[in-house]
Amino acid sequence: MSGPNSDYDPVEVTPLKAEEVEAMREAALAAIAAAADLDQLKEVRLAHAGDRSPLALANREIGALPPQARKEAGQRVGQARGAVNQALAARTEVLEAEHEERMLVEETVDVTLPVDRLPRGSRHPITTGSELIADVFVAMGWEVAEGPVVEAEWLNFDALNLGADHPARTMQDTFWTEPADHHVVLRTHTSPVQARTMLTRTPPIYVVCPGRVFRTDEYDATHSPMFHQVEGLVVDEGITMAHLKGSLDHFATAMFGEGIDTRFRPSYFPFTEPSAEVDLRCFVCRGVAGEVETCRTCRGEGWIEWGGCGVVNPRVLTACGIDPERYTGFAFGMGIDRTLMFRHGITDLRDIFEGDVRFAAAFGTEI
Ligand code: DAH
Repeated sequence: MSGPNSDYDPVEVTPLKAEEVEAMREAALAAIAAAADLDQLKEVRLAHAGDRSPLALANREIGALPPQARKEAGQRVGQARGAVNQALAARTEVLEAEHEERMLVEETVDVTLPVDRLPRGSRHPITTGSELIADVFVAMGWEVAEGPVVEAEWLNFDALNLGADHPARTMQDTFWTEPADHHVVLRTHTSPVQARTMLTRTPPIYVVCPGRVFRTDEYDATHSPMFHQVEGLVVDEGITMAHLKGSLDHFATAMFGEGIDTRFRPSYFPFTEPSAEVDLRCFVCRGVAGEVETCRTCRGEGWIEWGGCGVVNPRVLTACGIDPERYTGFAFGMGIDRTLMFRHGITDLRDIFEGDVRFAAAFGTEI
């Protein structure tokens, strides 16, 4: 009678041959030595010491060996795994030390460097100037209104009583967008904001609208195809030209100081009736006899052209849905660039637009 041949397995397990185990160990040690950083070493650890590594798999085969072969194979695989783990630990230590050293060099902060070496930026005088102008009116209880720079032809012209054949249309050299039959322009003035405001609000209306405008002008010391205007609009009961004059005098004084007022000269704008050109008292000679004659700022006039204004044309009120029997209004429009040129003695308009940071910096960090 023979017993069950349970602990003898005649199958030879190749991975457990001495030279195989040796090859696995060699491969693992070579990979460990070749790992250049901790990330690579992590991969090597997975491949050569992880659960699915050749040595781990070999270890699992040991149980399948005949008892007499188990001891020797167990020792062989155990030693190889021990050597691999040792090599991994040693390499980890080396790579960690290297990593730390590199971080120390790469992340060095020179605490002896002087601070605040970066020049402080400054806001552009057009931005601060527009805000300053708006503030003058906001302080009187007005609101700031805005509109898009890409504007409907109707709002830029027709709503303002500048019909298609109106000769004044050609006074404003317009940038048209394509296709022409969409009737869209780059706004030539801030006056369309008047129309937008009247269409969306009900009187009493007190708004000021600073913004960018466009005309096909040459680019020189006094012209630019893009510039800035500020529009003012009041619509209320009982508004007269006297309110307009008072508001503009206040604006002039706020911008240029005590004693700087305005004067009106009769003029024509389709959206106002009557209309006037506004002149600003020359802030250099103030029109004083003995000084005005030689003043180079106003060229002996005592006054400087500042903008346009007038009583809102009833046709504009009607086009924008406001009853001209009940309400009257006034409006004005000035060049912001021009105003700031006066205020700061800027002689070339191009300095405002060319973006040299030294120009803006000269105005300081005005908030
Ligand atoms: N929109 C005019 C222009 O750009 C300026 C202007 C004139 C605005 C008279 C007004 C005004 O509001 O009443 O030439």
